[in-house]
Amino acid sequence: MLLHIPDVFTKAEVAALRRTLDAGPWADGNMTSGHQSATAKKNQQLPEDSASAREVSALIVQALNANPMFVSAALPHTIFPPLFNRYEGGGEFGLHVDNAIRQRGDLRIRSDLSATLFLSEPEDYDGGELIIEELYGAQSVKLPAGDLVLYPSKSLHRVTPVTRGARVSSFMWLQSLVRDDADRESLFRLDVATQRVNLDKGPKDQAVIELTGLYHNLLRRWSEV
Ligand code: NI
Repeated sequence: MLLHIPDVFTKAEVAALRRTLDAGPWADGNMTSGHQSATAKKNQQLPEDSASAREVSALIVQALNANPMFVSAALPHTIFPPLFNRYEGGGEFGLHVDNAIRQRGDLRIRSDLSATLFLSEPEDYDGGELIIEELYGAQSVKLPAGDLVLYPSKSLHRVTPVTRGARVSSFMWLQSLVRDDADRESLFRLDVATQRVNLDKGPKDQAVIELTGLYHNLLRRWSEV
């Protein structure tokens, strides 16, 4: 499932994050690549240990954990510290699949989900679409600053060349409590539907109680904690 999560940050918050990021020590982007992707990547990245990356990274994780739509869709177990990249002057990232395992110090996750948080407005650059290959065709994603796209890490994806301006974004991987994409999507749809009935009938309605029970019992069957 490909999901657009709007307004993770307000425009004012994005501007503040950008001030911190833009002052950071940007460097060649091949620091985080696996073998396959290193050859395909042409961009800049903030070193993961830089003060600016650490500061903004922590704010992003905090915002995501407080975002009901993100939590319901991703069911996050562990979010790997978000990283940052910048594409300009023809920079691009060719077709690749993200590494299955991410490790940093003592932290090791299986990447179930990938996400890109857009930190540049779409009108400020040309190109820079995130193209995600799905079985039914390619999806092109270019979102307003502050919005996020969540997609399965198993998807082949690429970023088209940025031919004008600069595209700054944060990208991240996470391990989900529910490994299987179809199971996770079913839980998300059930949660959305239950909330809808709840709004209509109230939390004491018998159907709402039973649907909530069903949600938790499926989560109990499918989650790994
Ligand atoms: Ni990737």
